[in-house]
Amino acid sequence: MNRAATAQTLSLPEELVLMLLNEQTGYFHQIPGWELNCAVVGAVLAELSLLSRIDTDLDTLILVDRTETGHSILDPILKQIADEQEQRNAQYWIERLAALAESIIDQILDRLVELDILQHHNGDFWTLAATQWHEEIFDTSKEGSVGQFIKTRVVKALFTEEIPDPRDIIVICLVNTCDVFRFMFELDEQTEERIATICQMDLIGRSIASAVEHNISSPLLRRSTLTKKIPAVALRRILFSPHVRSGNVPALFAELTKEYGPVFQIRLPFGKPMTFLSGTETNRWVHRHGRMHLKAANYFADFEKVYGAHGVLPSLDGTDHFRLRKAMGPAYSRARLAGQLGEMYRLAREYMAGWKVGSHIPVRACRHMINAQISPLSLNVESQDIINDLMEFKERALTTHIIHALPMFLLHTPKMKRQAKAIDTLLERIQAVHTPAQRIGCPRSLADDWLSLHASDPQLVPEANLRFALSAALVASVYLGDALSFAIYAMAARPDLYARIRAEADVLFANGDPSDEDLSPASMEVTHRFLIECLRMYPIVPMSLRDVMNSFVLEGYEIPVGSRVYIAQTAPHYMDDVFPDPFSFDIDRYLPSSDQHRGPGYAPYGLGTHKCLGARWMDLQLAVNVLMITHYFTLEVTPARYVEALPFSPLPSMKPSEKLRFRVTEQVRDLPA
Ligand code: HEM
Repeated sequence: MNRAATAQTLSLPEELVLMLLNEQTGYFHQIPGWELNCAVVGAVLAELSLLSRIDTDLDTLILVDRTETGHSILDPILKQIADEQEQRNAQYWIERLAALAESIIDQILDRLVELDILQHHNGDFWTLAATQWHEEIFDTSKEGSVGQFIKTRVVKALFTEEIPDPRDIIVICLVNTCDVFRFMFELDEQTEERIATICQMDLIGRSIASAVEHNISSPLLRRSTLTKKIPAVALRRILFSPHVRSGNVPALFAELTKEYGPVFQIRLPFGKPMTFLSGTETNRWVHRHGRMHLKAANYFADFEKVYGAHGVLPSLDGTDHFRLRKAMGPAYSRARLAGQLGEMYRLAREYMAGWKVGSHIPVRACRHMINAQISPLSLNVESQDIINDLMEFKERALTTHIIHALPMFLLHTPKMKRQAKAIDTLLERIQAVHTPAQRIGCPRSLADDWLSLHASDPQLVPEANLRFALSAALVASVYLGDALSFAIYAMAARPDLYARIRAEADVLFANGDPSDEDLSPASMEVTHRFLIECLRMYPIVPMSLRDVMNSFVLEGYEIPVGSRVYIAQTAPHYMDDVFPDPFSFDIDRYLPSSDQHRGPGYAPYGLGTHKCLGARWMDLQLAVNVLMITHYFTLEVTPARYVEALPFSPLPSMKPSEKLRFRVTEQVRDLPA
């Protein structure tokens, strides 16, 4: 921890961000993006003013000293002001600089995480870190988080008659301009009067707040009146695309994005127009701003109802979603799986014991191989005998109730009704082994966490949602199993890569099974880059669905409230400005010198608040399975023509064609008994 940076050494923009953070939702209080941007830029100008670089009053903003401050956020803005020929006022600068606010906010968040003041959670949520800081406040020495100190100083200013410090006055002015105090305190008349008085106390605070307020109330830039017409994709364009024939959905999205731009509509006969958001910039926007405009509840409602559930993890939004993710995060973490590595090795070997030289492994067996591990590790039960029923039912439900590619009644055929019973069987098995006495001394599992969260917070996880939550755990077997089948295909089709991955595996397993520490990024450097490339070329979930709850303008297109949007987050995987020569499988893209996957163009795990919670679990399990397969066996792609071009089966999620098989050509070493 860097104790050199205390609450007093934070800049005004940093203090403002801490004040505006809402611990319950893990993001900012509900402030429209434009207002947040203006307030943050206002804080930058106020800090420059306190540092005597500029001088501002209600009418003018003048440069006093262009000497750099040494602060990476302040200096580029100081330079812009210093380079301007004409004299402008604060309102002008706030309006002009608001476009930079997002990158300023990103930098602030990164720095606050570095300083251990904020904690970053997967899915881009932030909370105050528990790190304790020591500070003299209210005349006594106190311990607390920096965020708490700043809030306490503001409370002190608001609820006592003392004259606050100029920095606190400015923060209060800006928070007030964003109208956020009412979310923090119960505001009575007296407090409102006190806020108004404080806001008049300091000229810098007054002038900046008034400039911010002026920008906020001016509708001109908040939504462009010049929005563009969304282009419609000609149906024949889709019908004749080679990517439709091969089932390569992300490549199709990339092609349409190149031709039609980042927002386009597909109008299928008899259906509503489908609005697609696609491309690197739209990914960036969805990741950061989606939470304010998009909701997951509606598109998922019909599907969760099939399981008798309402308000499950993928369908929640806002505070409850963040609370549930935080509570369940550890259950889906890499650490949870790493704690059971020994058992995973044993289960993987037990499964591979059935592979004989000369035999053919059907591609769907990869799902079984993964399920043979995930089911006991996460639910503490066997489910190999019912996994096909569970998967087929779930895939049909997704196709009928989310993608709507088949009519809903097809979920109620006699076969589907029989397969639905597998969910009851799974739950009965879980219940049978999850009595407190039987779980004593066992490593904690995903099922333990769901059941105990249900017991402690039945409003957040009602009994009605357990059927979905527990059976969905095995959905992971489908996604991970299909990712494994793509990975085996990619290795078996490239013997040179197979050999390099095997070399890493042989070192790792040379002296018995590797520990978690042994499985370091350095020890499986090739395997790691190989898997990143697999998920780029073969992303299992090519798009996400959401409904617009607050209308927005994206890249010049207005998307009205109530629209359903299809976020084609994996389109950039096949765009050559992000991944040059995108159809070639090349693990050198991820060498530190190029690192093409760092950025919003790489999104195999989704974007924003619902980003895959099991991503790191999945990285570990997939890598271990790939390593173990190469350590013991050599596999070959059949039919051989698939080596050149693999057909996909894209619905409801991407997987290789069912006709793909792997022939076991060699068993390199015996499997330990
Ligand atoms: C190749 C394997 C996987 C892929 C490609 C994948 C992809 C995704 C994607 C794209 C989403 C976001 C969906 C959306 O935004 O609507 C998601 C969500 C999720 N994934 Fe994964 N996933 C994989 C494996 C796993 C595994 C193994 C687990 C569990 C151990 C898991 C647990 C979850 C959970 C709990 C969510 C919901 C998060 C939320 O709604 O907040 N996933 N996954």
